[in-house]
Amino acid sequence: MYRTKYCAEFSEADVGTRAKVCGWVQKQRDLGTLIFIDLRDRTGIIQLAFDDTTDRAVFDIAFSARAEFVLAAEGVIRHRGEGAVNPNMPTGAVELFVDKLEVLSASQTPPFEIKDDTDVKEELRLKYRYLDLRRAPLQHNMMVRSKIARHAREYFEDNGFIEIETPVLIKSTPEGARDYLVPSRVHPGSFYALPQSPQLYKQILMLSGFDRYIQIAKCFRDEDLRADRQPEFTQIDLEMSFVDENDIMTMVEGFIATLFKKILNVEVELPLKRMSWNEAMSRYGSDKPDLRFGFEICDLSSVLKDTEFKVFASAIAEGGSVRAINIKGGADKFSRKEIDKLTDFVKTYKAKGLAWSKWSGELSSSFAKFLSEEEVRSVYGLAGFEEGDLLLVVADAKNKVVFDSLGALRCEVAGKLGLRDKNDFKFLWVTDFPMFEYSEEDERYVAMHHPFTAPREEDIQYLTTAPEKVLARAYDIVLNGTELGGGSVRIHRQDLQATVFEALGLTKEDAEAKFGFLLEAFKYGAPPHAGLAFGLDRLVSLMLGLDAIRDVIAFPKVQNASELMTQCPSEVPQKSLDELGIAIKE
Ligand code: AMO
Ligand code: AMP
Repeated sequence: MYRTKYCAEFSEADVGTRAKVCGWVQKQRDLGTLIFIDLRDRTGIIQLAFDDTTDRAVFDIAFSARAEFVLAAEGVIRHRGEGAVNPNMPTGAVELFVDKLEVLSASQTPPFEIKDDTDVKEELRLKYRYLDLRRAPLQHNMMVRSKIARHAREYFEDNGFIEIETPVLIKSTPEGARDYLVPSRVHPGSFYALPQSPQLYKQILMLSGFDRYIQIAKCFRDEDLRADRQPEFTQIDLEMSFVDENDIMTMVEGFIATLFKKILNVEVELPLKRMSWNEAMSRYGSDKPDLRFGFEICDLSSVLKDTEFKVFASAIAEGGSVRAINIKGGADKFSRKEIDKLTDFVKTYKAKGLAWSKWSGELSSSFAKFLSEEEVRSVYGLAGFEEGDLLLVVADAKNKVVFDSLGALRCEVAGKLGLRDKNDFKFLWVTDFPMFEYSEEDERYVAMHHPFTAPREEDIQYLTTAPEKVLARAYDIVLNGTELGGGSVRIHRQDLQATVFEALGLTKEDAEAKFGFLLEAFKYGAPPHAGLAFGLDRLVSLMLGLDAIRDVIAFPKVQNASELMTQCPSEVPQKSLDELGIAIKE
């Protein structure tokens, strides 16, 4: 073994003992007759010391050591000299007085310094990700991620779950995102897909009798990247038989509470709050509301439908609405200029404008002059608008625009007011999602969760006649405005599954070609089952208070879905294409 202990594990208790350490040179300081080297490994730093009593050959090696050299050192742990104690580091009272030193590997000058706080461009860091990953914050992130995954395995195993791996080369049945395709050499012209999730396999496993399944599964979705989205990500995926939604939620809540206690020492109060999708949308304009602050949406349409102000009246007349959020105590916090910025912000959500009233000392408003006194009074009354407040109003003929823009605006404003505390964890179950949403692009209904989700018993009658009325037995777990996980009770009857496919506009032939194996399987005794999948990357990044999941993924992809270190995707030799029978279009 190269080491007796990790660098940061030494303390005053070790003084006088011989020790071996190894790691990377953080910094070498040459003071003439004295040399100090900060040696780093994944635990932290120990100071190596050399002086004029040190063997000449050893001193010379220490003299030549540069940043990121890999060293093995042996010597005696001793107290640091008077006045040299560094209270800011765990090993700050001691140092290793070295008598044997070996350079295991030299290093070129790295393209950037390995330090905690870095302003180096992310592109460069990702190109040299192995260096970036030497930085303590990223090392910490990866270690916490490992602990979280481990806790998931332990918790679910303790609860009788069996870990089963499902295939990564699967049949392409895109629903939702685009599939990544893998060409088959043996079957020219045929393709596998990489799984968007293990959904169908885990359901089939329930049919096979593995009534509690878990997997930490890689998933692949060819969709646009965002801070909380990668084309390749990881789920904690689970499924149970002979259960309903409450059983899944209870099991998942136990996982969350034990996890937050173990990793963060945070008590999560159970049971978690629940809210229907409808309520979440109307109060927060979002199916993943951030509950760390208020600023709920209030509908002003009832008192404005007869107003002379065209902007408001026409929005309502065309089937839309006028809604507002009241920023309590916000009047002093936003200047006219800042309100203009908020206006630009809501425009990115397709709002046509942002009307406002501000009451700090005197009352000013962009819209009150267009309304009757009575209307203004009613608006302020409804919104609870008082001295010190800022009222922000959006009107649109499309309710979706009103909700999207106010939903995003309340988060934006809360962020500016410092109300999005990363150490405040507000969980929520969102339930009773609509089963379908209309896709303008596909000109048909698509499944809001996925087509294997069970409709509520009382809504089955509307599946083919009024699909927009049908609510699903689906649930999302939301944390601080992010969708952490989602799941549902599944359909386990073949006839019901066929009806849902029909509602989705799939012909019998389509359904047979895509999901025949599933419909067939349901003919052989399917237990009622339900499940859920967490986004592990999102869970880790929220627990660590990070904004982007890139920082909890060792080798993430960038905006254009490439990976900068290995530079993939890349072209392949003509021979490989020929074997696959693939020709590239110009
Ligand atoms: P869903 O599609 O909601 O459900 O995915 C579950 C969770 O996975 C995470 N997630 C992502 N994380 C990072 N990058 C992405 N591109 C990405 N896409 C999704 C989210 C999300 O909540 N099979 C169902 C689950 C089930 O019904 O059991 C499924 O995949 O945190
Ligand atoms: P205008 O009559 O266009 O000057 O608008 C008067 C006020 O209403 C201004 O503050 C506009 O920003 C605002 N406004 C315009 N369109 C909308 C809209 N769709 N929703 C909310 N406010 C709007």
